[in-house]
Amino acid sequence: MKRFFYFILWMLCFLFGIQPQNVQSEELIPYPDSLIKRKGTFSTALLKTMQFPAEWKDEADLFMADINKRTGLILHPTKCHSVLVVRKNLSLPAEAYSLTVKKEQILIEAAESRGMNYALTTLQQLILSHSDGMLPLLTIRDCPRFSYRGVMLDCSRHFWTLTDLKKTIEQMAFFKLNVLHLHLTDNQAWRLAMDKYPELAVKGTFYEDFPALSYKYYRKSELKELVSYAAVRGVEIVPEVDLPGHCLALLAGFPELSCNGGKFEAYPEEQEFEKRKRTTENMLCIGNPSTLTFAEDVINALIEIFPSPYIHLGGDEVNTGIWEQCAKCMDLYHKKGMKDLHELQDYFTKELSKMVRSKGKIMIGWDEINARSAASPEDMLTIWQKDGKEQQIKALKRGVPVIMCPKDPCYFDFGYARNPTRKVYEWNPIDERIPDWQHHLVKGGQACLWTEFVTTQDCVERLYYPRLCALAEVLWDRSSRKDWDDFRHRLHSFSSQLKKLDINYYKGDTLNRQWFDAENSYPELYLPARIETNIQSIKFYGPEYAFDGRYDTFFSSSFAVGRDNYFSIVLDYPVKIKGIKVLCDDSKDFLSSADLLVSEDGNAFRRVAAFDKQGQLETTLDDCLVKIIKIQVTDKHFCRLTIREIMLDISEN
Ligand code: ACM
Ligand code: ZN
Repeated sequence: MKRFFYFILWMLCFLFGIQPQNVQSEELIPYPDSLIKRKGTFSTALLKTMQFPAEWKDEADLFMADINKRTGLILHPTKCHSVLVVRKNLSLPAEAYSLTVKKEQILIEAAESRGMNYALTTLQQLILSHSDGMLPLLTIRDCPRFSYRGVMLDCSRHFWTLTDLKKTIEQMAFFKLNVLHLHLTDNQAWRLAMDKYPELAVKGTFYEDFPALSYKYYRKSELKELVSYAAVRGVEIVPEVDLPGHCLALLAGFPELSCNGGKFEAYPEEQEFEKRKRTTENMLCIGNPSTLTFAEDVINALIEIFPSPYIHLGGDEVNTGIWEQCAKCMDLYHKKGMKDLHELQDYFTKELSKMVRSKGKIMIGWDEINARSAASPEDMLTIWQKDGKEQQIKALKRGVPVIMCPKDPCYFDFGYARNPTRKVYEWNPIDERIPDWQHHLVKGGQACLWTEFVTTQDCVERLYYPRLCALAEVLWDRSSRKDWDDFRHRLHSFSSQLKKLDINYYKGDTLNRQWFDAENSYPELYLPARIETNIQSIKFYGPEYAFDGRYDTFFSSSFAVGRDNYFSIVLDYPVKIKGIKVLCDDSKDFLSSADLLVSEDGNAFRRVAAFDKQGQLETTLDDCLVKIIKIQVTDKHFCRLTIREIMLDISEN
């Protein structure tokens, strides 16, 4: 019966020239809400003119320039009789659009320039994917699921030039992502120049031992230029100044805002741990009234530059130890009748929130600000810890809106072993336990890219793409049709579009792989053995996962590895081995300076191979007896280490 029904449907579609949706998906990411194809084609050779509402001229000009750069098509603006026509239609929702490709005309309708931008982006993707110049006739009606579809980039740990940031913005716009959250300050650098404190960004980006990395910060005029560059592309910039923790670079310029005074120094990530100073004292003094005065100056400076309704003021990873030893902080603590040192943070949060609100803006904070329910329903949270589910439930119960960016799967500074594209695609930003009436409080989500170990724009792109394509679709698509196979096939053919955009995407993701989330239990080893290592693992991703006979599981280190680090498998009894292969995360967290040693008797070792610069190691052995297999790191690495599997080819006799 069902089959018969499909046959009739198919016949009807055939008769009326409509193919059922997704019979063959168009190469679009994110996929539109509704796409109905008709029989016939439109030739892009006709695309010579464009007509649009005068107030959307900047956006239309941008489209004409982009399409020329990417396809060679030359369009001229006209007032009438155009082939490409954009009309304003105020009955559509804010970000919605419709796009109709007819035999001799393309018609776009939108209520706002943002809607027009999305329609033109969809059109661009269609043109790029039909390289024969023949577009299918179709009608698209489209509207996003979430209004906040973001990307966070850490500009403190490493500095990104205006050129880099503009490239990120262009790429985001191509996937209809609309918020760029810039993490402008941290222990490593204060990158925000402020008129009122001209010395602050200078001192907050100075490193005595690293002159080439020093003095990189953003001037007001540069940030304003960036805001305009983003706005015309439909991207809003949300600035973050992280207070009251993560403030070492601020204290380098303003030691009087610390609890203990004295000299503070920012440090670049390149600085060895031993040489970093006073890192546990990276807190502002909450008992000092000047701290709030300074915070207000920061808020004013941000408002002058960024038109976004949001100001992110951090609030993560606060360390109360310094406050406990500070007379000023403890005075405030007693005066306010506090019972827990964290209430000092809550006091600060509430003061900042009032200040931001009094200036007509909304404060965003990391989810810690709501740990003891200090956030107000007029604030907003970026939820990052763990999988974010419990924090989401708690915030929504209190009516506090949220942006979801939990570590798993939204921290893109982890390599693809931990957060592969499929895990991102299958993620739902709204937990299944959230009742429908609270859904509106989930404003959206974002990818976070912390840049402790990211130094080049190429690496930024490799960590974003293709995962960001998946996130863009998760945040856009409001249908419940999530279809991994369809997405995977679209993404596969999308590689030519990524190349056209000059995006350095990661090519090694075995896209169909299921992901692995470590839990608090350790696997059995592949052979009877024990593991010896002096490398500290990230919680739950213990060393056993590197030798459990599976390459979807993995061991991960907490910190960058260096010269004296080793990782050994000590077998219970010697085994005859033909070969050894070590599989690391090849997107980022791999070994590039390390040797492989073996020992037959457990005492004497011989070096049998070295890792190549891409972290590969595969070697043959002559059926020799092996008791210990040892990876010896030979130089400082600028990445964590993720070992997916150490594989042994065991001789049969
Ligand atoms: C964070 O990762 N500390 C927000
Ligand atoms: Zn203090």
